[in-house]
Amino acid sequence: MPEIRPAREDELERVHFVVAYSFTSDRTAKGREGMRHLEELAWPTVLLADSEIVATLRVYDFTMLVNGVPVPMGGVSTVACLPEHRRQGYVGTLLRHALEQMREAGQPLSGLYTPHPALYRRYGWMVAASNLKYTLNPKQVAPYKAAPPKGRAVRVTEEDQPLVEQVFRRYSERRTGPLVRSESWWKEAFFRRIYDDKRGLSDVAVWREADGEATGYVCYESERGPPPFQPSKIWLREFVALTADAYQGLLRYILSHDLTDEIFWFGPQDDPLAYAVDDSYQVKREYMENMMLRVVDVERAVGARPAAPGAPEGALSLAISDAAAPWNQGTWRIECSGGKLSAKRADGANGDLLMEAATFAAVYDGFMNATDAVRAGLAEAGDGRAALLADRMFASEYPPRGTDFF
Ligand SMILES: CC(C)(COP(=O)(O)OP(=O)(O)OC[C@H]1O[C@@H](n2cnc3c(N)ncnc32)[C@H](O)[C@@H]1OP(=O)(O)O)[C@@H](O)C(=O)NCCC(=O)NCCS
Repeated sequence: MPEIRPAREDELERVHFVVAYSFTSDRTAKGREGMRHLEELAWPTVLLADSEIVATLRVYDFTMLVNGVPVPMGGVSTVACLPEHRRQGYVGTLLRHALEQMREAGQPLSGLYTPHPALYRRYGWMVAASNLKYTLNPKQVAPYKAAPPKGRAVRVTEEDQPLVEQVFRRYSERRTGPLVRSESWWKEAFFRRIYDDKRGLSDVAVWREADGEATGYVCYESERGPPPFQPSKIWLREFVALTADAYQGLLRYILSHDLTDEIFWFGPQDDPLAYAVDDSYQVKREYMENMMLRVVDVERAVGARPAAPGAPEGALSLAISDAAAPWNQGTWRIECSGGKLSAKRADGANGDLLMEAATFAAVYDGFMNATDAVRAGLAEAGDGRAALLADRMFASEYPPRGTDFF
């Protein structure tokens, strides 16, 4: 039987090796040094086979907004198993263990980013957020509106974090997916990229309106190309604008980087970027899967999120199958009353709606309509009205979108 437990201090080198080998990153002492901040953010859990660490993961203690309301969430990350030990179920065992731990820690949701959605779906996570990748060449477009903005862009440093945070908070107010960022998260994962072992600083510029109020910001990184002209690429990591002046001003600011031949941004699906420039055909848009979500604890997760605005009062019975988190298995009475949602055990009742835990994760944050899940054979409806009611209860005001890669 493999042993699972938190890593010991003297095992951190080995954990780094397992992760760095698995993700083809820097395994040297320098690479190790560049990743020490991860241990402060979340301590690794390890799996030992024959007394040797062969697999690991960590769970960040996050809070995610659902229609603007904070819900505790365990962010699963750096999941790795050495190749000679793969396909023996070790990572599956680690994931089940993590689910129990998150439940005990009062994290009713879990999120993760992965190139292997099929793996995690087996354990109840589901793609439940998306982005568009916007790519444009600033030489091929100009801002559509000619009138110059009234405010100005000001480059800022880490010291100005409260200013940026205040804008981000206002931006996040009613959204689904943004994290409530801690001070250390701002430092390690906003001003720097979290898994960049060089720990280089990103550029950040804040938009100040004519009266000085901060109403937007951009966070970006530039990569220089080969000589002689060295055109660069800009990865716009975040573009947040609360007002038209901030939107127009920051757009001009970023388009004014003349040596750039490509700007790309993983932005919200409903962002008007393509129409804020003169020729929308020049803005390439690709649909990208974003964060996977897992409802760790049905009762607490449903109770923690608000009902969608305008959701009718009513109840439905939802039967969930959940092999990896058996405490969720069974029938639940989901009720919407006074703007609040609740889930109470209703074992014995027939489900009006039946689905797997993974499908429920995508329904929970409004990423997928229950009616569409039924239509696609991902859920069964004993009563068609129940799916329609679920759509209205769980709707998201904005397209769900993870704002922080981890
Ligand atoms: C992805 C990785 C963590 C899987 O580890 P593993 O030890 O092989 O996983 P397990 O043996 O526990 O597999 C659990 C289940 O998922 C399946 N699975 C494993 N890798 C999979 C993949 N890449 N895609 C889809 N399913 C996968 C297994 O077949 C198994 O299914 P089963 O229980 O029905 O047989 C490992 O290959 C790895 O470290 N890769 C490099 C780093 C990485 O990609 N990490 C994950 C980033 S999110």
